[in-house]
Amino acid sequence: MGMLAPAPRTLGREAEARALGEALDRVASGALTIMLIEGEAGIGKTRLLQDALQDARGRGMQVVTGRAEELERTRPFGLLAAAFGCASSSPDPRRAAIAALLATHGRGDQGPITVTSDPGLQFRTVDAFGDLAEELAVSGPLVIGVDDLQWADPSSLLTLATVSRRLAYLHVALIGCLRPAPRVAELDRLCGVLEAAGARHLALTALADRAVHDLVADTIAADPGPGLLAEIAGAAGNPLFVTELLGALLQEGAIRTVGGRAEVAELALPPTLRLTILRRLSFLPDDTLQALRAASILGSSFTVTELSVTMARTVLELSRMLAEAITGRVLEDDGDRLRFRHDLIRDAIYADLPGSVRRGLHREAGQRLAGVGAAALQVAEQLARGARREDAEAIGWLARAAREAAPTSPDVAADLLDRATRLMNPADPGRPHQAAGRAGQQPDVGRPRRSRRGSLPWPAGPRPRPERGRTRADLPWARPAGGRAPARRAPGAGARGAVLGAHQRRASKRAWLGKHCP
Ligand SMILES: Nc1ncnc2c1ncn2[C@@H]1O[C@H](COP(=O)(O)OP(=O)(O)O)[C@@H](O)[C@H]1O
Ligand SMILES: [Mg+2]
Repeated sequence: MGMLAPAPRTLGREAEARALGEALDRVASGALTIMLIEGEAGIGKTRLLQDALQDARGRGMQVVTGRAEELERTRPFGLLAAAFGCASSSPDPRRAAIAALLATHGRGDQGPITVTSDPGLQFRTVDAFGDLAEELAVSGPLVIGVDDLQWADPSSLLTLATVSRRLAYLHVALIGCLRPAPRVAELDRLCGVLEAAGARHLALTALADRAVHDLVADTIAADPGPGLLAEIAGAAGNPLFVTELLGALLQEGAIRTVGGRAEVAELALPPTLRLTILRRLSFLPDDTLQALRAASILGSSFTVTELSVTMARTVLELSRMLAEAITGRVLEDDGDRLRFRHDLIRDAIYADLPGSVRRGLHREAGQRLAGVGAAALQVAEQLARGARREDAEAIGWLARAAREAAPTSPDVAADLLDRATRLMNPADPGRPHQAAGRAGQQPDVGRPRRSRRGSLPWPAGPRPRPERGRTRADLPWARPAGGRAPARRAPGAGARGAVLGAHQRRASKRAWLGKHCP
């Protein structure tokens, strides 16, 4: 497969890079700085975020970063748990404690699915993330970078809103990337909260011609001629499209360099990014393509073990099958997981599967993952994507996943149950009465109006600057040498009171969702 070298430098984003650099400068001034990088897929959001985080690390700042995944929108707090490294094996007791909270599942296989407007565990988890972020920020400047917010789970979005309020006067930058779509209500709310807190938007548009020229020159290590540039103009300044087009041209052996100038042979390339990607991939061996198709069923990233389970192949066989996909930069290895170099590459492979094959592969993946004891959420997601109407197996696993998610993320549980309900026969007596809660009737069955979106209150904006709270001068690393030690207050005090009040007001209101769902 034609080699597609990563572009060595970021081109044509000088103004945006400057704005992000200034945001990091402002972190030192002790007010939360929020930047939202918005733009279509492939336009360069992740690249800019990575550059900014690299800059932050170079300045000695703490960096916490994570990215949301399309198939993991139902993992409660999934984005933030990954970003803060909250695993049960974490040597940091604060992180391990959060992992333990997240591992507190509802009863998976029996009993009612209870979604309560008493935030309970969800509240404690949001608060624990707030405490952790606050403690980190007190120990030194902190940059939180979150990518692909359009796919973030609702609990992570709520937590980011709460955290942004709690960190309002600490040395913190929050940088988020998002596509204009999909735009769920929780993301709108988060953006509203962040805007009220002074967020600045960076809207990424097409790269200018000069930057495209330089990107092509960097990638092929030669000066591009007018014919090649005209061919690349089809990419409309989208850097992912530019690099995929170049990859396809290199693959076809269509670029000739004479006297340091690269030109393209007479050739009509497919007009869309999807077809361009597929054309580039078509040069891979059959079994590599087969593995990529199976991988696309698992999402934008996956572990080799998951793929080995769903394909019923050994890890050794897979490593041989995937080697070329890695050298051809279709996949990247990020340590624990393999990841499609870009979601659009995964999407192209996924969308190329006939619908019935796609559904069959999802169903088989779900069944095989269930066979090795994978998490109910992962099994349910796969089975739901492969389900036909009245598919009892998928409905059962969605209900089980909803039960497990309910304590930490009522929103996720409600969404999972919605999906189960849509698969059920409308005449099924076990079908929960979805409309009842919305209409405010039959409060013990169906979805309560308030618990649907955020059983915790969404913060309205930054909390008031504390009169005698922590200030920059209180922070050990911001103090001049020999300064007085700060009087540490309990982490989390402050915003907690406001949230807790609302929490307690709600505590008496209980509602039940899908009491008798299978
Ligand atoms: N300004 C740029 N200069 C050079 N390469 C870029 C630039 N922006 C993006 N790229 C490359 O284009 C591809 C897509 O960019 P990415 O940041 O992943 O897009 P997004 O996150 O918006 O979907 C990546 O391989 C990235 O390295
Ligand atoms: Mg991205």
